Amino acid sequence: MAGALAEDASVERGAALAAAARCGACHGSPDGTAWSGGYAIETRFGTFYGPNLTSDPKTGIGGWTAVDFATALRDGRDPAGRAYWPAFPYPSFTSLNDADVADLWAFFQTLSAVEREDTAHALRGLWGWRGWLGPWRAMNLDRTPSPSMDRGEYLGTAVLHCGECHTPRGPTGGLRHRRELGGNDDPPAPAPDLTALGWDLDDWASFLEDGLTPDDDLVGGEMRALIRQGTRTLSDADRRAIGAWVNGLPPVGRPPRK
Ligand code: HEC
Ligand code: HEC
Repeated sequence: MAGALAEDASVERGAALAAAARCGACHGSPDGTAWSGGYAIETRFGTFYGPNLTSDPKTGIGGWTAVDFATALRDGRDPAGRAYWPAFPYPSFTSLNDADVADLWAFFQTLSAVEREDTAHALRGLWGWRGWLGPWRAMNLDRTPSPSMDRGEYLGTAVLHCGECHTPRGPTGGLRHRRELGGNDDPPAPAPDLTALGWDLDDWASFLEDGLTPDDDLVGGEMRALIRQGTRTLSDADRRAIGAWVNGLPPVGRPPRK
C-alpha cells in the first residue's frame, strides 16, 4: 500500500516536472495527440521533429530501462550510445538530479502506447551529418554540475531551461554561457535579454504567475505557454527563487550610451 502511494506521488511529481520543462511542447504530434511525436522544431540548422515518447515498444520508448532514460536526458545519448542533436535540450537537462529524473521516468512509464514512427529530421546540408556531434559535444557540452547551484538556478537551468531560448548561441549553435540570458535573436522566437530588467522579486513572482510585466504588458508566444503550463504551477517561493537567480546574473547588454 505504502509502496503504491509513494509510486503515485512520484508519477504526480514527474507529471508536474514534465509540464514545467515543457517536454510535451516538442514531443506532441501535429494532429494533437500528446507524446507521440512529429512536432516540427524550426531552427537555423533545419527542422527537427520530436520523437515518440509513449510506451510503444517499437516506435516509442516502451522497451527502455530507467538507465536508458537517464542517459538520454543527462548525457544526450540513445541506448546504442549515439549522440542526440542538441535541439533536444539535454545540455540543460544534464543538471537534473537523480530524484527528478526518477520521477520523470515514473511518469513516462504511465503513458499509453501510441504506435507512430518518428519523422526524420530535415537538416540543411552538412548539418545533417551526425558525425558533427562528437566535436560539437567536446566544444559545447559541459556536464560538470555547478557546485553552488541553488534552487532558483536549478529550476531556471536544469528544469525550465530559460537559457535554451534567452542565451545567445555561437556559430555552431552552442549556448554562450558567458552571456547567460543575454538575449537570442534566432528565429522562430527571438527572446529578449533578461539581465538588465531591474525587476524586484514581487515583479518576478507575479510575471511568472500571470505573464504580466510590471508595465502591464501581457507576454506572448512560447513564453506565455511556458507560464501557463510551467511556472504558474510552481510555488511562490520557487518563482521568487528563479527571479533572484536571473537578477544575480551579470548584465550582458551593451551599456547604454550617455
Ligand atoms: C525544445 C524541444 C524539446 C524539449 C523541450 C524536449 N525535447 Fe526531448 N527531444 C527533442 C528532439 C528534437 C529529440 C530528438 C533528438 C535527436 O534525434 O537526436 C528529442 C529526444 C528525446 C528522447 C530520445 C527519444 C528516442 O526515441 O530516442 C527522450 C527520451 C526525450 N527527448 C525526452 C524528453 C523529456 C523527458 C523532456 C522534458 C524534460 C524533453 N525531451 C524535452 C526535443 C525536445
Ligand atoms: C521556449 C523558449 C523560451 C523559454 C524556455 C523561456 N522563454 Fe522567456 N521569452 C521567450 C520569448 C520568445 C519571449 C518574448 C515574448 C514576446 O514577444 O512577448 C520571452 C519573454 C520573456 C520575458 C519578458 C521580458 C520583457 O522585457 O518583457 C521574461 C521576463 C522572460 N521571458 C523570462 C523567462 C524566464 C525566467 C525563463 C525560464 C524560467 C524563460 N523566460 C524561458 C521565450 C522563452
